[in-house]
Amino acid sequence: MKTILVTGAAGQLGQSIRKLAPLYPAFRFVYGDLPELDITDKACVKAWLTEHAPDVIVNCAAYTAVDRAEQDKETARRVNVDGPAVLASCVREAGIRLIHISTDYVFDGRSEAPYTEDDAPAPTSVYGVTKLAGEEAVRSAGCNAVVVRTAWLYSEFGRNFMKTMLSLAATHDTVRVVCDQRGTPTYASDLAGALLTIAGVPFTGFSLYHYTNEGVCTWAAFAAAIFRMAGLDTQVIPIPTSEYPTPATRPASSWLDKSRIRQAFGIDIPQWEDGLQRALRALQLLELSQKQA
Ligand SMILES: NC(=O)c1ccc[n+]([C@@H]2O[C@H](COP(=O)([O-])OP(=O)(O)OC[C@H]3O[C@@H](n4cnc5c(N)ncnc54)[C@H](OP(=O)(O)O)[C@@H]3O)[C@@H](O)[C@H]2O)c1
Repeated sequence: MKTILVTGAAGQLGQSIRKLAPLYPAFRFVYGDLPELDITDKACVKAWLTEHAPDVIVNCAAYTAVDRAEQDKETARRVNVDGPAVLASCVREAGIRLIHISTDYVFDGRSEAPYTEDDAPAPTSVYGVTKLAGEEAVRSAGCNAVVVRTAWLYSEFGRNFMKTMLSLAATHDTVRVVCDQRGTPTYASDLAGALLTIAGVPFTGFSLYHYTNEGVCTWAAFAAAIFRMAGLDTQVIPIPTSEYPTPATRPASSWLDKSRIRQAFGIDIPQWEDGLQRALRALQLLELSQKQA
C-alpha cells in the first residue's frame, strides 16, 4: 500500500483529494496543513516524513491570494518558493516522489493559442513570479517530481469564484464580470483525480504537465453558466478588465494545452461545463449535510 502525504490539506484542492480518498483503497492518506505541518520548515517536514514514511507527497500548500501577494511579497515567496524547495530537498533525501501544483499565471497571456509546457513563461504578477520560482526550485533539486500547472480552480470547498458568484446572486440582480480574460474553469475534484492517477505511477526525474478541464471561456461566460445552471435569474454585465482594476495583472489568455498529460497518463479530461454541473450538485449536498449536522 502506498502512503500519500497531502500538504496544504485544508485548502480547496486538499479537501477535494480528501473527498476522493475513499475511491483509492490502494493508498493510505496522511493530511497536513498549518500550523502542524509548515512546508517552509525543514525540520517539521522531516519529522512528518519520519513519522509517516510517505511514498508520495502531493503539495497543495501555497500562498494563493493573488492580489494580496503584490504587497505581501515576502510571505508569497516564502510559501511558494522556499516551501517547494524544502519539500523537494526532503523528497530527494528520502528517495520518494513529489507532485507539486503550479499555475497558468506563469504566462503573460498574450498568446492566441493554448499554452504548451514548452512555451516560455513570463509572469506578470508577484504570485506568478513566485509560483514559477517554485517550479524551478523543484526542478533544480534533482528529486523525482511532477509539476502540474492548473487554472481557475473552484469547488464546493473554500473560497472561489463559483461560490463568490452564488453569494452575489443572493443580493444582486446583476453582476459586472470581466469579459476579456479567458481561461478554463477547473473543478478541483477533477484535478484531484488526475493527481491521484499520477501518484499511482512510479515516475522518475522531473516532468511538467498542464491540467485543466476542457474548453475555454471568459470570467463573464463562467459567471453566466453558474447562474444558468444554478437556476438563478441574475444577469451578467460583461465589462473590460480596465473597468475592474486589481493590484495584480492577470493574463488575458491562460488557455492551457493538455496533450502531454493526456498522452502520458491516459487521463480523461471532462469539459468545464460538466465539471461545473457536478460542483454545483456537490455544493448543494455539502450545504444540506451541514444543515442537518
Ligand atoms: N485557486 C486557483 O484558482 C488556482 C489556480 C491555479 C493554480 N492554483 C494552485 O493550486 C494549488 C492549490 O490551490 P488551492 O486553491 O487549493 O489553494 P488554497 O485553498 O489557498 O489552499 C492552500 C492551503 O495551503 C495552506 N498553506 C499556506 N501556507 C502554508 C505553509 N507554509 N505550510 C503548509 N500549508 C500552507 C493554506 O493555509 P492558510 O489558508 O492558513 O494560508 C491553505 O490551507 C496551489 O498550488 C495554487 O497555487 C490555484
